[in-house]
Amino acid sequence: MGLSPLRLVASAIAALSAARLAVAAPSSNITLKADWTGGFPYGSTKVRGVNLGGWLVLEPWITPSLFEGTGNTAIVDEWTFGQLQSRSTALAKLQNHWNTWITEADFAAIAAAGLNHVRLPIGYWAWDVGPGEPYISGQLPYLRNAVTWASNHGLKLIIDLHGAPGSQNGFDNSGQKKSFPQWHSNSTNIARTNAVIKQIASEFASQFNVASIIAPLNEPAGFDGSDVLSAVTQYWYDSYGNIRFPDGTSQQSQTLVLLHDAFQPLSYWNGFQPPPTYQGVAMDTHIYQMFSQSNVALSNSDHISAACNEATNLVNFNNNGLWTIVGEWTPAMTDCAKYLNGRGVGARYDGSYPGSTKVGSCTGLTGSASSFSSAYKTFLRQSWEAQVITFEKASGWIQWTWKAESADDWSYQAGLAGGWIPQNPTNFQFPNICG
Ligand SMILES: *[C@@H]1O[C@H](CO)[C@@H](O)[C@H](O)[C@H]1NC(C)=O
Ligand SMILES: *[C@@H]1O[C@H](CO)[C@@H](O)[C@H](O)[C@H]1NC(C)=O
Repeated sequence: MGLSPLRLVASAIAALSAARLAVAAPSSNITLKADWTGGFPYGSTKVRGVNLGGWLVLEPWITPSLFEGTGNTAIVDEWTFGQLQSRSTALAKLQNHWNTWITEADFAAIAAAGLNHVRLPIGYWAWDVGPGEPYISGQLPYLRNAVTWASNHGLKLIIDLHGAPGSQNGFDNSGQKKSFPQWHSNSTNIARTNAVIKQIASEFASQFNVASIIAPLNEPAGFDGSDVLSAVTQYWYDSYGNIRFPDGTSQQSQTLVLLHDAFQPLSYWNGFQPPPTYQGVAMDTHIYQMFSQSNVALSNSDHISAACNEATNLVNFNNNGLWTIVGEWTPAMTDCAKYLNGRGVGARYDGSYPGSTKVGSCTGLTGSASSFSSAYKTFLRQSWEAQVITFEKASGWIQWTWKAESADDWSYQAGLAGGWIPQNPTNFQFPNICG
């Protein structure tokens, strides 16, 4: 693919950096990184946040009722939600969901829980529905409301592009479940995504004190090979230009650019977009311990150790590369939540997932917290604390997710109510859990 957009952006940056260097004359990359001023003191204050999953991008496991209510088992993602029922029915259900799943009261509760960030997933179809695409748009007013509500309650908001044309990972949470993603292999798809990022950057640049971060693409499928990684690498350069220089001007924005590691080890990105050439770039990494047979088979104490053992990698990259935020993680340590692996797909933990081997029964491990034993709630608290303590050794964390209809093990809101998440996120019961 052509690298001309990169060269254009790099020359604009070089001119501006030269001016900046003359003023600041910083002595090391770390100083330069810490020098960044945007809507939040990233690097000196920990990000503590929660995702607003399943609101502006549907996920079957977060709201099973929306999918079961269709009476059609072939409706497995937002694409088929629009495709396989009448448009008026789908629109009415979506509007009701958008109006009720998250309201300003949730922002108030999130702020009251001592958090400072929300990450809001949204799909490209809020801005651009192409010919033949069954997506229904209408999410943008809710994003705008969310920015207002975040402002009202002193929260920072991350605009997270969670679905790109063609799907960047084939996951249902990209909007379209596919056996192989097609975003990276189609230049029209990538161009459309860049256009969406430009629109987001342009609209929200002046509100950087609230919408302090744009995450230009969630979880591109780097595990699918070098084609994906080269497309993503170029896209990160384009996104830097699109976000840092909104409307193609030379006036730099103060919006942090949050990349995703594309499921590569953080070390893959060593030296990527370094200061002083690039300013205000951070890395998002997602840490889950339930999406393989070996992971679900770990004992509780091995899960805790695995969480604590993430510290070395996170701290290395955070201190020597880009500020590193764990933008998705959960105290849950099984894949038992209904539809977590897709609508109609079972769980590895209880052996109902194709090819898996049963570890144990899922009863009492997900669903309503009223079924959780006190020992299980203690484990969830230990899991939560081990991860928070570890992730705060880097630049912070954003739990997945605030609410889930029938998976209290994943819900921050349920954890607050059930006592396995503290009302104040610095109040640890197991401060030495990582030794
Ligand atoms: C800053 O980082 C770049 C790229 O990683 C490296 O080439 C350069 O030597 C570093 N500069 C300092 C002062 O550490
Ligand atoms: C590329 O994606 C666009 C939609 O963004 C689609 O219209 C077009 O048919 C795709 N091209 C190929 C070769 O698949």
